[in-house]
Amino acid sequence: MTTTTFWILETQRTAYSLGVSPAGRLIHTYWGPKLPYREDYPIPQESREWASFNHPEQLTPEEYPAYGDYKFIDPCLKVTFPDGTRDLVLRFDHAEQDAQQLQIVLKDTHYALNVVLIYQVHPSLDLITRSIRLENQTDAPITVERVFSAQWHVPQGDGYHLSHLTGRWIDEWHLQREPIYQGIKRIESRRLTTSHHHQPWFAIDRGHADEDRGEVWFGVLEWSGNWQIAIESDIFHRTRVNIGVNDWDFALRLASGERYTTPPSTAGYTEHGFGEASRLLHDYIRTEILPHGTIPHQVLYNSWEATLFNVDVQSQGDLAEIAAAMGVELFVMDDGWFHGRSFDHAGLGDWWPNHTKFPDGLAPLIERVNGLGMDFGLWVEPEMVNPDSDLYRAHPDWVIHFPSRDRTEARNQLILNFARLDVQEYILDQMDRLLRDHRIAFIKWDMNRNVSQPGWQTEEHDPREIWIRYVEGVYRVWGILRERHPQVIWQSCSGGGGRADLGILRYADQIWVSDNTEAAARLGIQWGFSQVFPANTMEAWVTDWNQRQLSLTFRFHVSMCGALGIGGHLINWSKSDRDLAARLIALYKAIRPVVQLGDQYRLLRQTGFYAVQYLGKDRQNGVLFLFRTHAPHPTETPRLYLRGLDPNARYQIEGFDQIRSGLAWMRDGLQADLSDDFSSAVYRITRVNG
Ligand code: GLA
Repeated sequence: MTTTTFWILETQRTAYSLGVSPAGRLIHTYWGPKLPYREDYPIPQESREWASFNHPEQLTPEEYPAYGDYKFIDPCLKVTFPDGTRDLVLRFDHAEQDAQQLQIVLKDTHYALNVVLIYQVHPSLDLITRSIRLENQTDAPITVERVFSAQWHVPQGDGYHLSHLTGRWIDEWHLQREPIYQGIKRIESRRLTTSHHHQPWFAIDRGHADEDRGEVWFGVLEWSGNWQIAIESDIFHRTRVNIGVNDWDFALRLASGERYTTPPSTAGYTEHGFGEASRLLHDYIRTEILPHGTIPHQVLYNSWEATLFNVDVQSQGDLAEIAAAMGVELFVMDDGWFHGRSFDHAGLGDWWPNHTKFPDGLAPLIERVNGLGMDFGLWVEPEMVNPDSDLYRAHPDWVIHFPSRDRTEARNQLILNFARLDVQEYILDQMDRLLRDHRIAFIKWDMNRNVSQPGWQTEEHDPREIWIRYVEGVYRVWGILRERHPQVIWQSCSGGGGRADLGILRYADQIWVSDNTEAAARLGIQWGFSQVFPANTMEAWVTDWNQRQLSLTFRFHVSMCGALGIGGHLINWSKSDRDLAARLIALYKAIRPVVQLGDQYRLLRQTGFYAVQYLGKDRQNGVLFLFRTHAPHPTETPRLYLRGLDPNARYQIEGFDQIRSGLAWMRDGLQADLSDDFSSAVYRITRVNG
């Protein structure tokens, strides 16, 4: 046992301090820039009583407040003990710390329930990861009604603003920014997955931060199920963020001796605006979350928008031939290839090749694709079942349902209950077999509906645990498949961006960001997505949407801002389109390392214009994308000021004659001219040595 009762968690540029008050309460004292001296950090103190209505326990910024005592703030933890007591009084017991981790153990003053606060510091990323472990050391089960991962406190004060993301299917990733008023603002998912509608991400600033400047406190929940973020601001000028698994319709039965660990929440602080907040998350995702975060993704082709469910050896082979000639490296066959599948009303659950479409199985197509020099990938939707399938006919009880209720179908499908071990084992076996029997380099894992009638017939668990056990089941199956087939690259899709989060990115290498592939709409979608996620996770196809208005070059340039893919109907592309595509794919391959693995700077978003810059970590090479959508006349292309360059080094920007210092390109900028609506330009940035 250590005797320390005050901790300062330091990163390269930030510090976070907390400690135990004389009354034994764990108190948050500071989060911001690193301070010069240890004595600078405020020591933990109980606040003074304000009135009989506001005792110190409501006013003291507790690090992890539980429901109980004389406290009315939004708590992080709520439990019911076997005797019916619903009051939790946590006091410091002991702590353990090494270079990587701090664990602080709080105990209830009467019942043997331990609440372990776990902190992990990421020094070079200025981030801290928190999670909670509950340990029931009583001899009876405890009902847990809420267990969030963290409460994050911003400094006492007013005038804060919240940035968050909203959306819906084919319209994800809208960046919102609004003042934080007194009261509670909740964003959440109740859909079983992360959802298209909100993201488990927040950024809080003092009202005047921009992309480059200003303090920002930001964070995420690393979880792919129901979640909640609640920002509470009170009249005592305190603002705190609760973040964790949603307690909507939730309960967890913690048996005697059992433990439960929450998903992690990672958060950070920067003085350099929203741009740097994003870049810190990008680096964290690439270096610590993603399975293959430092390898650039291949240029892929996906068949969905071209052939929909009408896939067969001929149609796919024809597409593959054109794709290969253009320089595509990976050919992905989407929906429609498996037993019983001709449209969306049947087949899900029966994961073997459709013998009408593929009489000799998938091998002939895969061989053809491989023979063209490309890898082969496949679409699956493992958590789903159509009532019209062999699997459902054999196991109608395997879906999420209440026996007395109709089973609401969405897209003609029901959800297999991945909380059940037998379901997990069956799907694991099916997917494993697919991967063992075929040369598959890439899997797109889809999920095309949300939950209804969330019943689970279980004796062992509280049925309301389904919200967490389902997600743990998905993680388990995916994790085992990853271990057995480590070379496979996985994409997370849920009707586009319905399951994009840092939890799934421990299993999936990239995300299908949206089913909306209209390039002009995509600019806004990509802007929102980049708040949290790096470009290598952003699969982006060039398709035929709005091709009358949007040139092929424009469509390519938009997709080249992420992991480039092609999804158009290549048979209909003219020879000159295919030649142009080949040139743009070659250009993409040259800039791919800086786009996918470099630093991203969102330069400009204003009526009719977007500009994004990527710069290699060594600041030698970069690329600048500029887009004009519809800008009413009269208008001029805004001047662009580059970011991140070495100020004293000299750089050449493609298309501009002068070689200038990094400082000149950043402070004096450059004037491009996009005079036509829906036009775009790419400028490579090269450091000139000597
Ligand atoms: C979802 C995906 C699409 C496609 C279809 C196939 O909608 O988002 O990209 O894979 O399913 O049914």
